[in-house]
Amino acid sequence: MPEPSQASGAKADTVARTLLVALFVSLLCSSLVASAAILLKPRQVENAIVEMRRNILEVAGLWAPDAEVDALFESIEPRVVDLETGAYADDMDPESYDPVEAAKDPTQSVEIPSGIDVAKLGRRAKHARLYLVRRDGELSKIILPISGYGLWSTLYGFLALEADGNTVSDITFYAHGETPGLGDFIVKPAWRELWRGKRAFDDSGALELRVVKGRVSADDPLADYHVDGVSGATLTGNGVSNIIEYWLGDHGYGRFLDKIRTGGGS
Ligand SMILES: Cc1cc2nc3c(=O)[nH]c(=O)nc-3n(C[C@H](O)[C@H](O)[C@H](O)COP(=O)(O)O)c2cc1C
Repeated sequence: MPEPSQASGAKADTVARTLLVALFVSLLCSSLVASAAILLKPRQVENAIVEMRRNILEVAGLWAPDAEVDALFESIEPRVVDLETGAYADDMDPESYDPVEAAKDPTQSVEIPSGIDVAKLGRRAKHARLYLVRRDGELSKIILPISGYGLWSTLYGFLALEADGNTVSDITFYAHGETPGLGDFIVKPAWRELWRGKRAFDDSGALELRVVKGRVSADDPLADYHVDGVSGATLTGNGVSNIIEYWLGDHGYGRFLDKIRTGGGS
């Protein structure tokens, strides 16, 4: 029978070994997780780019499920626009320009004055990357990235306009955190369909496009500019209206769209 001191020594030895094995296993697991994260990062970035391109193609009406995204995307022309002047910034490479990173960099972004920050963005990049679609060399659609606050979350999407810089061709939101069955009406095909053919600016250039509460009434004089809201989810609809108000306004794409509408931005 072991002496009491021998027994406690053996016990301490077992505890130390257990701790050592636990430490080894946790180090092994954490290095496996870290390596997987590092190795998978390029694949995740690549997938994010493909998904973004798929969304752009879809809102441009060019998406074909059986075709290669990259091959289809060849027909899309990314361009960088200086939002202050509304002019193309052709010295900037649209492929390498990252508006999301630029929005975080104080030298490449501007604060949005609180009085006009209806989409609750805080800052925006000085330059935007948008996408042009051409048919037989002629501008046919303009795809504008849009974002802003809904009810619970920031909504990210694209608004597609016809070449006149005024008629809506489609709208899509590819990321949002609104409630399923309520605020997520913004991604439903039937609601998107309501946008097609609506106009953004009236003849005097005033922005009138927005989501109304409930249905657009038959005698609404601005019916061409108004889109049905969804009863019980008016607040998300208001968020979409705010996003349109900011991004089609003077501080957003307004100056660029002015040039398009007056024939100077093809
Ligand atoms: C759990 C919960 C989730 C909700 N989610 C949304 C939502 O995603 N979008 C929305 O507009 N309203 C949502 N609402 C309802 C809003 O609080 C608000 O009542 C509604 O937008 C007002 O629209 P109405 O005036 O058409 O009734 C939610 C309410 C509850 C209780």
